[in-house]
Amino acid sequence: MTLVTYLAEHRLWLLRTPATSYALRLDADDRPRHVHWGPPLTAEQAATVPGPVCRDGSSFQTEGYGELEGPGFGAPSLLLRYTDGGAGVEWRHLGHEIDGGHLAVRFADRHHPLEITLHYRVREDTDVIERWTELRHTGDGEPIRLERSDSASWTLPVLPGVRVSHVVGGWSSESQLKREPLPYGETVLTNRRGTTGHQANPWLMLDAGTAGEEHGEVWSAALAWSGSWQITVQRPPSGPVALTGGFGHDGLSWRLAPGETWTTPVFAGLYGASGFGGISRAWHAYTLRHVLPHPGELRPVVYNSWEATGFDVDLDGQVRLAEQAAALGAELFVLDDGWFGARASDRAGLGDWQVNLDRFPGGLDKLIAAVHGHGMRFGLWVEPEMVNPDSDLYRRNPDWVLHMPHRTRTTLRNQLVLNFARPDVAAWAHDWLDRLVTDHEIDFLKWDFNRAFTEAGHPGHDDPDRLWIDHVRAVYAIIDRLRADHPHLRIESCAGGGGRADLGILARTDEVWTSDNTDAVDRLGIQHGYGQLYPARTMAAWVTDSPNPLTGRLVPLRFRFHVAMAGVLGLGGNLPEWTPDELAEAAELVARYKEIRPVVQHGELYRLGDTDGPVSAVQYVLDDQIVVLAYRVSARFGHPAEDLRLAGLNPSSRYRDTATGHVHHGAVLTFHGLPLDLPGGDHASTLIHLIREP
Ligand code: DGJ
Repeated sequence: MTLVTYLAEHRLWLLRTPATSYALRLDADDRPRHVHWGPPLTAEQAATVPGPVCRDGSSFQTEGYGELEGPGFGAPSLLLRYTDGGAGVEWRHLGHEIDGGHLAVRFADRHHPLEITLHYRVREDTDVIERWTELRHTGDGEPIRLERSDSASWTLPVLPGVRVSHVVGGWSSESQLKREPLPYGETVLTNRRGTTGHQANPWLMLDAGTAGEEHGEVWSAALAWSGSWQITVQRPPSGPVALTGGFGHDGLSWRLAPGETWTTPVFAGLYGASGFGGISRAWHAYTLRHVLPHPGELRPVVYNSWEATGFDVDLDGQVRLAEQAAALGAELFVLDDGWFGARASDRAGLGDWQVNLDRFPGGLDKLIAAVHGHGMRFGLWVEPEMVNPDSDLYRRNPDWVLHMPHRTRTTLRNQLVLNFARPDVAAWAHDWLDRLVTDHEIDFLKWDFNRAFTEAGHPGHDDPDRLWIDHVRAVYAIIDRLRADHPHLRIESCAGGGGRADLGILARTDEVWTSDNTDAVDRLGIQHGYGQLYPARTMAAWVTDSPNPLTGRLVPLRFRFHVAMAGVLGLGGNLPEWTPDELAEAAELVARYKEIRPVVQHGELYRLGDTDGPVSAVQYVLDDQIVVLAYRVSARFGHPAEDLRLAGLNPSSRYRDTATGHVHHGAVLTFHGLPLDLPGGDHASTLIHLIREP
């Protein structure tokens, strides 16, 4: 398949993916114009797509604001200012390069010393199109002010009943899916807190109001960035919906210095015609193949004592827990917060990354040896970007934090944010992390981030807003370097639960701590939203205690397991308090998870049933294996669990239930459904594992 074609006579580029195509062209003034994003078009067809019609009848003017193929007059993707009072871009086409699936279209401003390169990448095995932009100051005079430098803008066809799907939330209530009519005007999805955020996540899906879980056209986009971000969707009274997105939020601006190149993160787009389920599966496959650093791996079953012990960690207690966790089948043991400095609570010690020898006499090695002795890997919690004011680090380096002159240094969770945009601070963080991983046999880091930026100043820096970008880039650089130097090291992204989940961090970590809320009922909603974009292979989920420490809800062990088994299963309960029966059941369920784990972690996800109905279910398909996890949160008389119609099966095949030996016909499972043998009462759940008969 030719991935990128240039039609010189039409000044048009056509990009192809397996099931979609994308086209842009240059207009008479050299401006890049959107042509098509949707079902496959031939080059001949693409050349006949009518040019965009401006809604106010005039030609496309940008009033001096640059666009990245946008519709004109809308939210600018590029907002540039020059010291002579001028603004925007007057595009002059310089040329293009095609390298396999990578297209780079180069422009210069007609007057100012600025080059702009629009990048596109398509591949043979995904319909995801990656886009990003590069700005280069080619002069030696005055800097150029960047007030907005988005990665890309995406334009849809006219969709009369257009809806937007996205997630909202907060700490412990992340990823709540919202699907609602797109208002006229401009809708801004954003996070201004310095990280990806619990309140929103940088992706969205748009449809004509008619798409369902397994049918209908859906357009979607996701930003690969872990700092503050902004996506603006425009719905004009007539004409197409368009969106623009990139890093940074309103009010920030940056200086592009002479000779400097500014590269935005990827803002990827994906069109599909198989509903929201199809779009999710395509994002999952793309993430598994092209984003994650170790795509083929299976994530181990973790034990983490945070919910059981809080800060109260010591050698003997952790060794005992490790023994119990290993007996249940855990494969990775993580020592969470509290192992260092004076960190007996969240009030002190953060930043002092020396092992607390009162709690761990002789250091961590005894615990690590015990964990490894049980055949488990060893992981450690760190929060490198933060400091408690009550710490030796802060007392020594009060200027290392984000701060502004004459402004209060607001603490959140009793901590301040270290300014990783400072090279000395970033170097310090890399050094102690590198030493920690070099000096100890550490297999896994849980990298946490527990508060938002406030008073985000960088006194003395001549371009202080840079810190919003440079902090994130420094985090990326440290993780990349640690990984390169310690190839065995695996990393979990955590930010007070799921506050840092995005395609940027997933390119350099192995999983995400989805939420601090481990209540299995609440988790169903959180996982439903998380899985819209991100695959189960990245979704860490622990089974904890009942009543749940956060919500007080009583939920049977089996239901808790079945919910956590829909992602990367972990254990986080206070095991010494579990009864022998509970421990035996838990060990059995961990063993069961290991049997189905490849299907869950690497299979295709189908969301079955109705999340608002009596029973919801997720189904995973990998080659000839099927796993179904079905849940009934609350029983209602007169609302029996209906047979569950499965998806993605071969109708002419037979499927054997690995637990009962019963053989089902694919056609019957698809058209009539699988009878669910749910126990009575609330919090009923079941796991079914089917294997296709040879
Ligand atoms: C927030 C994380 O989400 C928790 O799992 C735990 O690691 C705490 N931080 C530790 O302070």
